Amino acid sequence: MRVASSLGIAVLLAFSAPAAAQTPSDAHEVTFSKDIAPIFQKNCQQCHRPGSIGPMSLTTYQEVRPWARSIKNRVVTGEMPPYRYDRDIGIQNLKDDLRLSLSEIEAISSWVDAGAPMGDPADLPPPLSFPDLSEWAYAEQFGPPDLIIKTKPYTLAADGQDVWWRPITPTGMTEDRCIKAVSVKPSPQGRAAAHHANSRLLGFDEETEEWVEVERLSEYALGKVGEVVPEDACRRLPADSMVTWDVHYYPTGEVIEDDVIEMGVWLYPEDHEGKYQQDLKLYSLLMKGSELELQPHGTAMTQGFHSFDTPVRIDSFQPHGHFRLVGKTLEIFDPKTGDLEMVSSVSDWTNDWHTSHIYADDSAPLVPAGSVLVITGYYDNTAGNKQNPDPTQWVGRGSRTADEMSHAWIAVTHLDDKGYEQLVAEREERLALETTEQP
Ligand code: HEC
Repeated sequence: MRVASSLGIAVLLAFSAPAAAQTPSDAHEVTFSKDIAPIFQKNCQQCHRPGSIGPMSLTTYQEVRPWARSIKNRVVTGEMPPYRYDRDIGIQNLKDDLRLSLSEIEAISSWVDAGAPMGDPADLPPPLSFPDLSEWAYAEQFGPPDLIIKTKPYTLAADGQDVWWRPITPTGMTEDRCIKAVSVKPSPQGRAAAHHANSRLLGFDEETEEWVEVERLSEYALGKVGEVVPEDACRRLPADSMVTWDVHYYPTGEVIEDDVIEMGVWLYPEDHEGKYQQDLKLYSLLMKGSELELQPHGTAMTQGFHSFDTPVRIDSFQPHGHFRLVGKTLEIFDPKTGDLEMVSSVSDWTNDWHTSHIYADDSAPLVPAGSVLVITGYYDNTAGNKQNPDPTQWVGRGSRTADEMSHAWIAVTHLDDKGYEQLVAEREERLALETTEQP
């Protein structure tokens, strides 16, 4: 029972993760200085500080106080921090997980209800120092990027609708290499306006003599640092490839001239074998011949099934949809045992934030050949869906925000039988160690 055990480990580990942040003891009053400031440092200030993307800074009591009511609302509804992912369902051990623990939400809520007291300033944690936003992420770890790919300049009007900027630029690669890390950096002037910048790789198909999409290269969403490819994998950056960008700008009230967004790419050395190939691809929830069609005031469900000829490791899951999508799940079915295991569930989807959920190293599902990824999407075109701009419309598939989409982005590392057995064995060993270490 390979799957059950390997996936079981993932899920088990997720639940045995160390309990997050301490619960403030009932004995003392919840104060900003003692209880709340540390939470804001950990989960809010990366975006809510001067020069970052949040609309206001939340670094001092004076800055925070006027927002107390609004903070409670946003936190209790799970809108802030912006990381939509169900608790207690599937794998919970995720990298760059912004979610607060339930006890932290409770602490913020009761602090606001008590009048948001400051408490003793002596209890304040020392202020955090943040990396300079004009520096490259990973610069400390890996040095400057090996390659910088830039968008063509775009001038954004002061007001109006949100805009999509989709230039195509060459990577400048003259040989095939393996990517170590990717990070997208908006310009200082455009930082508050650039909400998303996604990029995909284009390769030239000799047969059809056309540029075709190879895979997703990087994703920048407000506040996201970047992505590191696991050392045992190779994500290929082919020679002579091009990058096609999808930049989503929101006007900020000021004209932004000739804005350029940069992508830094760090490469593994030329001789990096990266035993396994990793790719980040789109998996459709519409199987051949099926269509996505939402009646006025109606609901719909779509489902996609994908399997692999070799064992694989699933490294990340990113649902995609617009206003009518309300939820998406990823499950894995093992035809040998008949087991269907829930891996990830997002049931409060919002089109405002597109998050890639990256599984922690020992939680990433190890999937035997022949197992099936089952991806399910739920759509709600009724007035009951708060995000629905118009329940009287028929909605079909399309890329305009008023249309809908039905796919997920999934990073997959392709293994061989030996590698799979080895990864399962190593994980079991680590788990065994952990259980013996913990009384
Ligand atoms: C990844 C970046 C990010 C993180 C982390 C984040 N925020 Fe936000 N926050 C934003 C952005 C961007 C907005 C404005 C867009 C929106 O409202 O969704 C916002 C809006 C808000 C608002 C509404 C402000 C208004 O105009 O009414 C509140 C309140 C808030 N955040 C509180 C928090 C708190 C408290 C935390 C931490 C527990 C937090 N945020 C974490 C980016 C972030």
